[in-house]
Amino acid sequence: MPAEFISVTFPNASNDLHPLPDAPADAEYLKRYAQTLDDYGFNYTLIPYSSSSFDPFTLGATILSHTKNIKIIVALRPNTVYPTVAAKSLATLDQLSGGRVVVHFIAGGSDDEQAREGDFLDKEQRYARQEEYIRILRLTWTSTEAFDFEGTYYQFKQFRSAVRPVNGLIPISLGGSSDAAYRIGGSLCDIFGLWGEPLAETRQQIDRIYAEAAKAGRSDRPRIWVTFRPIVAETDDLAWAKAHRILDKLNENREKGLSRAPLSAPRPANVGSQRLLDIAKRGDVQDRALWYPTVTATNASGATTALVGSPRTIADSILDYIDLGADLISIRGYDNYHDAVDYGRYILPLVREGIREREEARKQAAA
Ligand SMILES: Cc1cc2nc3c(=O)[nH]c(=O)nc-3n(C[C@H](O)[C@H](O)[C@H](O)COP(=O)(O)O)c2cc1C
Repeated sequence: MPAEFISVTFPNASNDLHPLPDAPADAEYLKRYAQTLDDYGFNYTLIPYSSSSFDPFTLGATILSHTKNIKIIVALRPNTVYPTVAAKSLATLDQLSGGRVVVHFIAGGSDDEQAREGDFLDKEQRYARQEEYIRILRLTWTSTEAFDFEGTYYQFKQFRSAVRPVNGLIPISLGGSSDAAYRIGGSLCDIFGLWGEPLAETRQQIDRIYAEAAKAGRSDRPRIWVTFRPIVAETDDLAWAKAHRILDKLNENREKGLSRAPLSAPRPANVGSQRLLDIAKRGDVQDRALWYPTVTATNASGATTALVGSPRTIADSILDYIDLGADLISIRGYDNYHDAVDYGRYILPLVREGIREREEARKQAAA
């Protein structure tokens, strides 16, 4: 399957540059954003989750009802919904949309954030619970007979669901960079989500995930998803000027207390963010155009590595990751709607052309 593109959907115009604290969901914005992604040929859009954010299932249903092709990736923390209920909610959305649903698991990187919604397990336990949760989803989707479940975190008796996904199963994704994430994602998941790191570190992470898949006796392996925040302009010079304007704004917002991570925020507890901050110490630019000051300016809150340059530079950078083994490329900018339009117009076509050229070259070499 050729590489595919992921975006991220937010329910209103609030973004990292111009945050609108507690802004309500904006139905028109959501519809326009989702239709724009669909029209420009994005394959998926992630609906992220945090303890203070909107309900991803409702946002997902809205996106699906306004679009034709794009699939939604619902971010799900196991502590927020009982697994049999989540399995049916996802399958309901999947049926109503003709099979356009993916679920993305978040074990939870921060104890404090988890505690906000009553989750007091430690991280190892959260990953162990996630493993049970994934097994329950698949049992729910595939069992025609009622079944019992006797796990450490979940026990139930004689459950049967009449709501089956369109294609039998719904793809399951997982994001994280700790040993437990590699183990569970590698052994059980269809997709493994990573944040953009330099090529060498990305290769190491992919090798770890594939090794876990092989150890679990899988004949296939998870598709790899890599995430970037491209800063694009007509030329490289203009893009670098734009990148510095964005960085100034991120720093200004953080000083004003408008950033997701306050100035006093401790070092993040999730390994993915720790890795980004450690790599940031090595220098601002890695490889072709991977830029790290946006990581440090935000205390690595989520996907924060930028790719800076002209459409050609950004497309070539993305193709480097596709050549490395990335199957899914997530791109989301700092001005969400307008960046999605720029990516759709100028970056997706160049990357897809590069993929076609590679396929052609492979066919010719094999002939
Ligand atoms: C592609 C991707 C998307 C993610 N989306 C979310 C999200 O929506 N909400 C969230 O709290 N964490 C999200 N995360 C963060 C991790 O899932 C989280 O920190 C993880 O549970 C623990 O990370 P660790 O194994 O690296 O320590 C995402 C991670 C990746 C790689």
